[in-house]
Amino acid sequence: MTRAPDPARLLAIYDREVAQFAARTPKSAILSKRAHRVMPDGVPMAWMVGLHRHPALFVTGGQASAFNDVDGNTYVDFNLADLSNTVGYGANAVTRRMSAQAERGMQFLLPGEDAVAVAESLARRTNLPLWQFTISASSANTEVIRIARAFTDHQKIVMFDGKYHGHIDATMASGGAPGANAPAAPEGMGLSPSASADAINVPFNDLAALEAALESGDIALVIAEPALTNCTLVLPDPGFLDAVCQLARKYGALVCLDETHTWQLAFGGFVRAEALSPDFVTLGKGLGSGTPLGAYGMTATLGGFVERHRGLYDSPQRGLAIGGTTFGSALTMSAARAMLEDVATQGAYDRISALGARLADGIDRVIAAHDLPWCAFRYGPRSGFCLTPALPRNYDEAYPSMDLAFSDAFRVFMANRGIWAAIFSAGPQVSFAHLPADIDLYVELAGAFVTDALT
Ligand SMILES: Cc1ncc(COP(=O)(O)O)c(C=O)c1O
Repeated sequence: MTRAPDPARLLAIYDREVAQFAARTPKSAILSKRAHRVMPDGVPMAWMVGLHRHPALFVTGGQASAFNDVDGNTYVDFNLADLSNTVGYGANAVTRRMSAQAERGMQFLLPGEDAVAVAESLARRTNLPLWQFTISASSANTEVIRIARAFTDHQKIVMFDGKYHGHIDATMASGGAPGANAPAAPEGMGLSPSASADAINVPFNDLAALEAALESGDIALVIAEPALTNCTLVLPDPGFLDAVCQLARKYGALVCLDETHTWQLAFGGFVRAEALSPDFVTLGKGLGSGTPLGAYGMTATLGGFVERHRGLYDSPQRGLAIGGTTFGSALTMSAARAMLEDVATQGAYDRISALGARLADGIDRVIAAHDLPWCAFRYGPRSGFCLTPALPRNYDEAYPSMDLAFSDAFRVFMANRGIWAAIFSAGPQVSFAHLPADIDLYVELAGAFVTDALT
């Protein structure tokens, strides 16, 4: 069996390709210089820079599965703005509805028919009857956690190692499993240590560890991605998610399945595919077709609780701390309606799942051709290189596949040849706009990269 590429070789490829990238993107470099005068790191969100460790890229627009930079280079996109643009670029179905809405007004702080149609569609797909809308998945998770705390009168939340539920104090905490020496700790500067103290993280696919956490009886919410999608791809064992719901119920905790990424892997997400019965489901990302929109569905019981405890302007009682003026605007709702009714249909999921299998098969062929001790991730439209012989069952097993030397060299190699690869921990994924030729180009170039890396 061939040994995995040498890190020194990967670094040499990275250096060579970064120089080529810089030579191909002079207009981006000029814009970046200008941007640095008015934005930290020259970007609207400084954290973006850490995702792509190569010179800055500025875009002009895109069409279907590809976008263009200001230098006129084209990139077939397998990152999809970390799945917030699974619709593709300039999708007619979406732009038609959004333009029509924009001409009539984008935001009213009053609902329109689109909000009803979107909630109806989500209720049908997920079997959760009642829906609320926010500006992002992070804000949806924030509200879910608050409702769960108010409903159960408990404070603590349980999560799974390797999770990501948004940049919020409550969930950006690591550690704290039962029996650990220390409580969970904030995952970044500026986060509240007291918020972290209410967090407990246990390994994914480990029901005994989950039960140990729940046994304290003071858990408000178990929040889980049905499959971990932010540390490569970790699939649930058969029956694991159902057991999570049952165990939480046994100990009086609520369950939220955070399907922000996974609803884009299967029609109706895992909640439908596995007929699960969580108390909440959160969504976001591509639901808004690239506009900022989050959503959460809940059971009738929790919907009733929200109605009884809404923010009360008309009473001295304190209500639930939920809401925001730009949440669920008319514009984002028109985008979501187009996504649900015109783009993300059952037939469209079938098509992109077949393309996802084509991508995974291609990656497996590249691995086999070089006799490497790796395999392909695969679930519906999602794939990628798993840099271990067997697929991971938890974060610790997934960690070796998040190899920065590999992904830094891979990303910039692919970018120089017209593919925008996924950020290192999540993807590639097929969008609703990809065609078979896009997949074949990815596989061909991935093969060329591996050959180069083993030279
Ligand atoms: C599972 C999951 N939940 C929540 C979020 C937060 O999404 P946003 O940054 O759009 O609020 C993400 C983002 O990657 C995610 O992957």
